[in-house]
Amino acid sequence: MNICVLGAGSWGTALGMLASINNEHVSLWTNEESVYKDISENRLNSYYTKECPIPDNIFVTLDIKEALEGAEFVIMAIPSHAVREVYSILKPYLDSGVVLLNAGKGLEADTGLRNSQIVAEVLGKERADKTVFLSGPNLALEFARKKPGCTLLASHAPENAKLAQRVLSSEILRCYTATDVIGMELGGSLKNVMAIASGISSGLGFGDNATSALLTRGLKEITSLGVLMGAKRETFYGLSGLGDMITTATSELSRNYRCGLRLAEGKSLDEALKSLGQVAEGVPSCKAAMILCEKYGIDMPITREVYKILFEGKDPKLAVKDLMLRDYKEE
Ligand SMILES: NC(=O)c1ccc[n+]([C@@H]2O[C@H](COP(=O)([O-])OP(=O)(O)OC[C@H]3O[C@@H](n4cnc5c(N)ncnc54)[C@H](O)[C@@H]3O)[C@@H](O)[C@H]2O)c1
Repeated sequence: MNICVLGAGSWGTALGMLASINNEHVSLWTNEESVYKDISENRLNSYYTKECPIPDNIFVTLDIKEALEGAEFVIMAIPSHAVREVYSILKPYLDSGVVLLNAGKGLEADTGLRNSQIVAEVLGKERADKTVFLSGPNLALEFARKKPGCTLLASHAPENAKLAQRVLSSEILRCYTATDVIGMELGGSLKNVMAIASGISSGLGFGDNATSALLTRGLKEITSLGVLMGAKRETFYGLSGLGDMITTATSELSRNYRCGLRLAEGKSLDEALKSLGQVAEGVPSCKAAMILCEKYGIDMPITREVYKILFEGKDPKLAVKDLMLRDYKEE
């Protein structure tokens, strides 16, 4: 098939590499001159995917119209803060027969909306229902280095999820399909908040007891919100829930985990983000989660404490103390 990937950051580039295995032609759109130049001249995207060579059948361009020409399958790999803008840019060029796959994670900070809701607002409900959403325990750099892993493809149009499975599956990536878009998006977005919490915990010198407690209780609060929002409980125990949580909350390759480590060192949020140099989706998603807590009348204690550390300058040590000494309760 003819594939187009929008966004040549870490994830877009890795997905382009994965799509290039089964498909003759992959066009990769970037808005960064330096990335365009590096790929065209050196067949590398050194900033985002380091030493990994860009396959010959990937064609890079700065022109979105050119990227979409003849595309039958479009992959969107843009962070949540820019996803609405890029869907609006894409809208006039998107033919009705083209299948869309959203590969980004995260919730819109000021609205609490999931990517599927943004697709519905910008491109219409019919298009959102046909879109495939991808999420799982996926570190881009590992795939770029050809290390194997699995992911989940959820859609209200199962035939499109199956098509995406054929487009992306290989001995490096095994894809499963599902229909619970809400559960998958929430798991994939809110685990990043737990990854920040886990980084803070490690940065404060706490041990494995604390990490396990955070992740188990964190999954519990994400699941409670998700079920209230109409998601299936079992989705949170699968690849896009527990699976993604394990990867993101324990790996030094995870930017959200590293963001937590820096906060524990006493850095401000701005300093922590600057030193990462790339997006940490847990930050906007944490803000969005507070909107959802209010809307659905639920408390998410770990998420709330991470919010206070991120946006109210709360001392992480005090946040831990407050979590530990809350009212006693049943599991
Ligand atoms: N990096 C990973 O391992 C990974 C894995 C799975 C999912 N994701 C998700 O994929 C999404 C993208 O993450 P990433 O790691 O590739 O981020 P990144 O910071 O590596 O790259 C972001 C890309 O988006 C582009 N971009 C940003 N704003 C833009 C705009 N306004 N218009 C056009 N392009 C714009 C940048 O130029 C860059 O190419 C995020 O939602 C992330 O959570 C990332």
